[in-house]
Amino acid sequence: MDNNILFERLIIAAYRLPFKFTQTKSGIKAVQNSGGLVSAILTLSEKFMLIAGNGNEKKIIWTGIADDMSVDLPSAAFENEQFDIVPVGISPKLNDLHYAGFSNDLLWPLFHYFPSYCVYNNDYFVGYKEVNSRFCDEIIKVAKPGDFIWVHDYQLLLLPEMIRERLPGVTIGFFLHIPFPSFELFRLLPRYWRESIITGMLGADLIGFHTNDYTQHFIKCVKRTTIFECHQNIIYTPNKLVKADVFPIGIDYDKFHNACLNENVLAEKQKILKNLPGQKLIFSVDRLDYSKGLLLRLKGYETFLEKFPEWHTKVVYNMVVVPSRDSIEKYKEMKKEIESTVGRINGQYSSLAWRPIIYQYRSLSFNEMVALYDVSDVGLITPLRDGMNLVAKEYVACQVENKGVLILSEMAGAAAELDDALIINPVDHNLLAEAIHTALVMEPADKHARLERMQHRLATYNVFTWAYDFFHQAYDTKEHQRMLNVKFVNNPIASQITSEYHNAHSRILFLDYDGTLVAFSKYPELAVIDRKTINIIKKISQDPKNHIVIISGRNREFLERQFKGINVTLVAEHGYFIKRGNDLWEAAFDPDLHWKETVMPVLLEYVNRCNGTFVEEKTSSIAWHYRNADSDLAQRRLHELRDDLTEIIRNKPDFEIIDGNKVLELKSGRYDKGQAANALLLNESFDFILAAGDDKTDEFLFKALPETAYTIRIGLSPSLAKFNVAEFTIFLELLKALVS
Ligand code: UDP
Ligand code: G6P
Repeated sequence: MDNNILFERLIIAAYRLPFKFTQTKSGIKAVQNSGGLVSAILTLSEKFMLIAGNGNEKKIIWTGIADDMSVDLPSAAFENEQFDIVPVGISPKLNDLHYAGFSNDLLWPLFHYFPSYCVYNNDYFVGYKEVNSRFCDEIIKVAKPGDFIWVHDYQLLLLPEMIRERLPGVTIGFFLHIPFPSFELFRLLPRYWRESIITGMLGADLIGFHTNDYTQHFIKCVKRTTIFECHQNIIYTPNKLVKADVFPIGIDYDKFHNACLNENVLAEKQKILKNLPGQKLIFSVDRLDYSKGLLLRLKGYETFLEKFPEWHTKVVYNMVVVPSRDSIEKYKEMKKEIESTVGRINGQYSSLAWRPIIYQYRSLSFNEMVALYDVSDVGLITPLRDGMNLVAKEYVACQVENKGVLILSEMAGAAAELDDALIINPVDHNLLAEAIHTALVMEPADKHARLERMQHRLATYNVFTWAYDFFHQAYDTKEHQRMLNVKFVNNPIASQITSEYHNAHSRILFLDYDGTLVAFSKYPELAVIDRKTINIIKKISQDPKNHIVIISGRNREFLERQFKGINVTLVAEHGYFIKRGNDLWEAAFDPDLHWKETVMPVLLEYVNRCNGTFVEEKTSSIAWHYRNADSDLAQRRLHELRDDLTEIIRNKPDFEIIDGNKVLELKSGRYDKGQAANALLLNESFDFILAAGDDKTDEFLFKALPETAYTIRIGLSPSLAKFNVAEFTIFLELLKALVS
């Protein structure tokens, strides 16, 4: 196992500790808390691969809220063979704001697509932030370099960034156990909360979701909330790159599968079967939650009883509802409604010898649950929304005789993997009724084949594979960051650049404009250089040893206006025009510009098809800007436009399409920034060359310059440049340092 040890220790941060502690006559009793998160992480901890480390130190630390704050717990209560528990102490009032309030009266309904259940309250957010920061304090007390801090779920969305601020180098993973909603839902949060949540999550190095849909929703929300660049599933924040990826949580397949043969479970099974003479059993177990679709499921079952009277007395539905969040109004209301609906259905269909629904409001022991999974003919799992739903997976794992059928809602994350279940839409009660009938009459061979395929997946990608996958990706992401970090202009490199600059006799500095000397603006004409930056450039240009080249894609007039009166060489339109000092502009060659007449109408068509985009015509090229358009639509149109333009220039080898920063440009390939730089270096000798740029067009420049040049790419994108700086302001500081 040693080669699998990627981190020294694991620190888990989850709202729920694995156990609830209650005072009994015989002392304090620890009972497992309910929910998928606790099930999964507890299983992991029990068999965890990092445990077999050196010395006596435990390798897992679990931070969480101590559940029953009325029980005065001695520290021994938290002693555990597998892990150390670090309880986070908060007052009941604070817990109400954080847990019942922001977490479960706002985030939970919103992220599960129940916006009308959301309660907006500023105090909730204050409490939420406070609890996240209490977790942070506890973690800081125990964390060491080399630890992996794994933050879980929606109750702790702000925590990754809080930890990052205090421990910048540590590895942090974040996993969301519930759905991440589409931007249309996410935008229902006030802007400040939205921004805090996204920034909070981006404090992690790796962010995991159950499905690709949730991951894509998150990336879209990042794009709409921040200005960070995202390529595929990598987000480039100013300090580091962050990866968002899909990790569908698994179960301990063997534990469930093998438990079916355990003698205690066999005894449980006998007990159940004795009460079901010749009857088929439909089974479900869910926490009390409106997201679980319990009322609609009852309606589906009622429709089944109505439509298929031949099943009366021959089938029983055992509905187990596990108590959860019953201090919250919506949950209390729902419990009443479920109970009255069960009463109504039983009232209508029961006979002396038969009750169609056996309803239980309690939690089950592991043995009871496995036995019920095993003996039931149908597993009925029909949430309206569910991040994953582990019950569905556990049900499949417990089909040792392969005789059960899983009916699963398409709204559960598990449906992406368990597509051999009978997939239903939970709002369609007729479909649900028919699915129950289909399941009850399904041929054994069909059941067998479906279960076998699903079991194969669950046995292969189990909870351990899931965790390994997550750890490996976190480790790789850190490596990826390190590779970029190696190239960062850190203090020693900045000093080296400054000292070489001072020792040099003849220097040339190639400076791109947008994104290098100024920030991007909504419209190009608004991105004018500020006084402070102009003063730095002026100061550098006044040294007779220096030659400054502003090398940009901008047109001649704009550059002349920005650098009026300053002794610089201007290179406009990506190298097509050059103006040395007070000389006139020189063009690279005499252009044939007829191609523009063909291309312009195509670009204008795209302006119509993508609101917010516009065309910029330059002498030698035409650009389509999409900075102000909806990012997803713009991406789609970008692909289409690129295809159209590729077709237009198919027989024109001289032309090239360049992908700039939110701009697509068509130009002749006979010139670029690299060739312009070479022209300026020709017959001159410089003993200090520096070039900086933020864009793909600057790569031509970096490539063309001699090995000795200091080339710097602004931003975190991979580059041919020797170094990266995270933001243009850091580069401006470097320029300032050269002349201060
Ligand atoms: N579970 C439990 N005790 C019970 C009933 C269920 O520990 O009485 C476990 C069940 O085995 C499963 C988890 O609770 O692992 C429920 O997870 P799921 O993802 O299905 O739903 P969640 O409760 O997380 O919304
Ligand atoms: C889901 C959530 C968990 C939560 C669990 C039980 O599984 O993803 O974060 O702990 O439900 O809910 P509770 O409110 O009792 O913690």
